[in-house]
Amino acid sequence: MIIANWKANGSLLSNQKWCKFFIENCPKEIISNIGIAPSALHIGQIKKLLESSDVKIGIQDIDAEGGPRTGSICGEMAADTGCDFTLIGHSERRILFKEKNVLLKQKIESAYQANLQPILCIGETLEENEQGNTMDILKSQIEEAISNITIKEGFTVAYEPVWAIGTGNTPKPNDINVIHEFIKDVVQSQSLDDVVPSVLYGGSIHESNSEDFFTEKNIDGGLIGGASLDAKEFLKIVNIYSRLITQ
Ligand code: PGA
Repeated sequence: MIIANWKANGSLLSNQKWCKFFIENCPKEIISNIGIAPSALHIGQIKKLLESSDVKIGIQDIDAEGGPRTGSICGEMAADTGCDFTLIGHSERRILFKEKNVLLKQKIESAYQANLQPILCIGETLEENEQGNTMDILKSQIEEAISNITIKEGFTVAYEPVWAIGTGNTPKPNDINVIHEFIKDVVQSQSLDDVVPSVLYGGSIHESNSEDFFTEKNIDGGLIGGASLDAKEFLKIVNIYSRLITQ
């Protein structure tokens, strides 16, 4: 799966142009493998603009609960507006909004209750990477977020090293492949039903490096920020992915 993470970007006008270009140019056979996570306020608009397609729509975050929590959006609301999935634990949520693994676990449970596919984002900081702690950090991020939860078939993890997001610095594709294999093992060993997750890579994916990532065995797709804001640039990456998975 390839997911566009628009973060706090987009407007009614720019979204309209983006969707027009996307729908006219996206290969039909791949469209159900594409996800778009616009701002929560624009989900209804995007849903309507793309209603004739099988593209998946997601929300970038949900709160762990509904009710008296001013400013929050809960899983049921996201599902009600037509979302298929929710990102959970993006590093910007962890760093800027101080979200901890224990809260992310509640969000995963909440997503499942609302019938949303949770996409758990994990990743180490530069400091953790330089200290050689990557695997330990990822393992604890996973274990603390999914222990004793019945994760379902299709559970997805997005591995996004914090130091690769929006920086142009990326790990070597082969190193990511090894990390993804590790992530799959950790999730599978935590899973009560032996679920092996899909693992997406995210962090400075562009047209020029996407082929190198997507040819790796354990990289099942990508979570794309900056390069997804321009529909043309995004479609170039989608086309590369499409060619590789259909050949
Ligand atoms: P980037 O962002 O592609 O701009 O590095 C990825 C993400 O934060 O999901």
